[in-house]
Amino acid sequence: MGRFDGKVAIVTGAGRGIGRSEALLLAAEGAAVVVNDLGGETTGEGADQRPAQQVVDEITNAGGRAAANYDDISAWSGGQALVAQAVDAFGGLDVLINNAGILRDKMSFNMDEAEWDAVINVHLKGHFSTSRFAAAYWRQTSKETGNPIGGAIVNTASESCLYGNAGQVNYAAAKAGIASMTIVMARELERIGVRVNAIAPVARTRLTETVAGGMLDAKEGDFDRFAPENAAAMAIWLASPDADGINGQVFAVGGGKAQLLQGWTPATEVAATDVWSLDSLTAARDALTGGRPTDVPPFMPPFEG
Ligand SMILES: NC(=O)c1ccc[n+]([C@@H]2O[C@H](COP(=O)([O-])OP(=O)(O)OC[C@H]3O[C@@H](n4cnc5c(N)ncnc54)[C@H](O)[C@@H]3O)[C@@H](O)[C@H]2O)c1
Repeated sequence: MGRFDGKVAIVTGAGRGIGRSEALLLAAEGAAVVVNDLGGETTGEGADQRPAQQVVDEITNAGGRAAANYDDISAWSGGQALVAQAVDAFGGLDVLINNAGILRDKMSFNMDEAEWDAVINVHLKGHFSTSRFAAAYWRQTSKETGNPIGGAIVNTASESCLYGNAGQVNYAAAKAGIASMTIVMARELERIGVRVNAIAPVARTRLTETVAGGMLDAKEGDFDRFAPENAAAMAIWLASPDADGINGQVFAVGGGKAQLLQGWTPATEVAATDVWSLDSLTAARDALTGGRPTDVPPFMPPFEG
């Protein structure tokens, strides 16, 4: 008995890395999986059908059900076609794992328009293009049947973005947007029985190979703290009935730890007695900052933890 017996799932960017592990775990738990991957470079350039097809072969050789999809999820039409394929091939959709991603790191003053657009499009728009059409399908299904869907979306954010890594302004803007999108869509889809959560993973994949070198390698005599299977387990657990009641949350996972992340809560409060002015804000400064450090906090790379 698998946790996803009879269910249909989509995983974007599932030809490699974390997405591949997510697709394999979903299939091992009984889901029919649409394995999406454009198959390009880490920068998003190029295309190759082999990564998605290899994962489909792995799943079917192990006795599971899977279909390959090579659409570019950074296009609205790609998200629409992907959702349509799941419904056509397997008769429905229960789980959407948004994972596809690329990197084009640059300091803000050196970044060009194409680098900004590519990263925003693949991550932020690429999470929404699929979610938009999955949500429309679920809303229609729920209207027709009168029943809650019992579905889930799991998005992929990033700790290095939520904590503000220099050199990744495009990626950070996209990932913070994905964290906010997670909360909005969790509220919107709750009423039709769809939960929306996000993971912020750290894992050894081709994306981190270049930046982290051997820092994420397994250490002899220890379990593999940075294997992509760790992040996959968190994502698929969040999509499973075991995580019922968890909605609109972001969980960090990697390095042998799992954490619930929460941000943007008021830290202090000062009440106005008249229209705010520069003088009254200066007078309120100490109360407003509450004696807390107010410069940019030092960045702690998650993989050093
Ligand atoms: N590896 C980490 O430590 C880490 C940390 C934080 C966040 N993430 C996030 O995890 C996700 C997976 O990354 P990974 O490390 O497994 O990288 P990866 O490069 O191994 O896998 C990403 C996959 O996405 C696919 N892809 C890229 N653009 C696509 C598009 N437009 N349409 C369809 N597929 C596309 C690629 O072909 C690739 O196979 C990304 O969203 C990444 O930002 C990873």
